Amino acid sequence: MSQIKDISLAPRGVGKIEWVRSCMPVLAEIEARFREERPFEGMRVAISIHLEAKTANLALVLRAGGAQVSVTGCNPLSTHDDVAAGLVSLGFEVNARHGVDAAEYTKHLAAALSCRPHIILDDGGDFVKLLHGELRSCAGDLIGGCEETTTGINRLRARERAGALDFPMMAVNNAKCKHLFDNRYGTGQSVWDGIMHTTNMTIAAKTVVVAGYGFCGKGVALRAEGLGANVVVTETDPFSALEALHDGYRVMTMDDAAKIGDIFVTCTGVCDIITARHFALMKDNVILANAGHFDVEVDKRALAGMAAEVFSRRQNVDGYRMPDGRVLNLLAEGRLVNLAAGNGHPAEIMDMSFGVQALTLRYLAREGRGLIPGLYNVPDEIDLEVARLKLIGMGITHDRLTGGQREYLDGWDV
Ligand code: NAI
Repeated sequence: MSQIKDISLAPRGVGKIEWVRSCMPVLAEIEARFREERPFEGMRVAISIHLEAKTANLALVLRAGGAQVSVTGCNPLSTHDDVAAGLVSLGFEVNARHGVDAAEYTKHLAAALSCRPHIILDDGGDFVKLLHGELRSCAGDLIGGCEETTTGINRLRARERAGALDFPMMAVNNAKCKHLFDNRYGTGQSVWDGIMHTTNMTIAAKTVVVAGYGFCGKGVALRAEGLGANVVVTETDPFSALEALHDGYRVMTMDDAAKIGDIFVTCTGVCDIITARHFALMKDNVILANAGHFDVEVDKRALAGMAAEVFSRRQNVDGYRMPDGRVLNLLAEGRLVNLAAGNGHPAEIMDMSFGVQALTLRYLAREGRGLIPGLYNVPDEIDLEVARLKLIGMGITHDRLTGGQREYLDGWDV
């Protein structure tokens, strides 16, 4: 029995799902193949990914392949209640509601796992944690699963190092068709969509501080520059700091950046990037936004502790008034700003991530029982196939890229 907010929202949710289906040609092609092949016949699949229309489309594609699919979100603030209702009206079991607290969120995860899945799709590692702990009993039929994001992979690596990963997990995030596009161009666009929609502020002429110059940070910095901002990067990794310098940005510590920034975006996947000593240095009316998976990068507790007053300024903007009168604005309670306060990634970008997810799931269904527990990379052929399908979906055939050209080394004496 599904637990959602309101089934009467279903028509709006179905409309959103139909819209994204027209923007995801890779998934459309894979769906057509799955209808023929039925690779998941008799299998149960549990999904915990940001519950938006794009994820709903992935659920439809897996069902076309014969799977019984149970859906929940991976962050209560990114759940779209209308999409959840739309999925229920299309016959799916859904357990998710926007804005619930941590206890309710965990109940929804548990309800999704109660189907005793053969395969899981995780985003951030919460399913995996439960299946190794209080919900171990739901893992009886489990073949393995896929992890969607960097933070989830980091958690899996730590678990693997500790000898505490009990089933095979596929690192979907590490596929090129995922992190090169989703983390960089997806986050790059959708973070600014989220910030601009939430604040209605100009980005041009602002000093934007991007913490972390990994795949997400690169995209956020690139699009900030395109919007006319002065971009400052903070980095702990020397190579990434050098990359940022060579891409034309200023690099400094957060202690220095805190004094000059107008908008701060954290993209590290690491705790306590912006802390009390930084809040003390910041200008009046700065914007604090997080794009990392968990709401741990801006130290919210310290911020609340320092504030004389916390007040709601507009939807998804909380003002923290300091004793000296300055107001620091935290967006979306420090959660992923693009998903909690914006439209999330463009569907065309998720087409690639979810194309990798779908084909990796088929790989697990076929080969997973032969894999020993551990963290695995997605096979290169899957990554390549998704890239090829995406090019075709964009009207560029593989033949047109290579047709008739001689290999560079052809005929050379090497
Ligand atoms: P990444 O590993 O490519 O980059 C993280 C960067 O942060 C690294 O270059 C690292 O050196 C740097 N860093 C670590 N500690 C730092 C510190 N104290 N100060 C400054 N920089 C520091 O990771 P990626 O893929 O960019 O992901 C970052 C986070 O964003 C993860 O939590 C990931 O799960 C999440 N993510 C969010 C998305 C969204 O839609 N908002 C999409 C994809 C990933």
